Amino acid sequence: MRAPDRHVVRLFQQRLLRWYGEHGRDLPWRKTRHPYRILVSEIMLQQTQVERVVPKYRQFLRRYPTLRRLAAAPVDEVKRLWYPLGYNIRPVRLHTIARESIARYGGRLPDEDAALRSMPGIGRYTAGAILAFAHERDVPVLDTNVRRVLSRVFFGRRRTARVRGDRVYWDLAATLVPRGRGYDFNQALMDFGATWCRPRNPLCPRCPMKAFCATYPGP
Ligand code: ADE
Repeated sequence: MRAPDRHVVRLFQQRLLRWYGEHGRDLPWRKTRHPYRILVSEIMLQQTQVERVVPKYRQFLRRYPTLRRLAAAPVDEVKRLWYPLGYNIRPVRLHTIARESIARYGGRLPDEDAALRSMPGIGRYTAGAILAFAHERDVPVLDTNVRRVLSRVFFGRRRTARVRGDRVYWDLAATLVPRGRGYDFNQALMDFGATWCRPRNPLCPRCPMKAFCATYPGP
C-alpha cells in the first residue's frame, strides 16, 4: 500500500485530537497509568461493551486491587466475580497472567511487547494497548473500531479494502500515531470509531474527516 499523503496524515492527527478534546469519553481507566489496571480494563473490553465494563472494572479492582491480590485468589472466586461478563476463559487467563508476572517478572507485569505477548490472552492488540496506555509508548493499537475508521477514511469502498490483511492496517496505524501523543491519539481513535464512525448510522455530516475521507458522504 502507498503511504498516505503527509498532509493528510497531519490533518487526520490534528482533527482527531481536537475531536477527542470535545467528544472523548470520561472512562475510569483513563484516570490511571497503572499497568495492572490497564490490563484488567483491556481484557474486559476485548469482548464486552464499555457500558457493561465500567461497573465491573470498579468492582473487580475493589476486590483485587493489585496483581498480587489477584494472583493469591482462588481462580474459581475470580470466575464468579467475572460471571456477568460471560462465562469464559478471560478471568482464567487474567489470573494466569497475574501468577506468571509474580513467578517470572518479579511481581510486575512486563513492559515489553514479546514478554506481554507470551502471556495467555495477550495478542498484538492487548500488548499494544498496555504499552500505549500504561507506558505512554507511541505504538499503534488496532481493534475492530479502529480498523473500520482507517478502512473508511483511507481506503474507501474499493473492493480490495475488504480483503486487505491485518498487516496493512497495523502498518497504517503505526504511520498515523503522532510522536509524543500516542496515548491520546489511540484513545481518541477508539472513541471516534465507537461513537461517530460507528458501523451503522455514522455521523458523516458532522465528521471532522469529511474533507479527505475516502468514504464520505457515507458508507
Ligand atoms: N476498547 C478497548 N480499549 C478501550 C479503551 N481504552 N477505551 C475505550 N474503548 C476501548
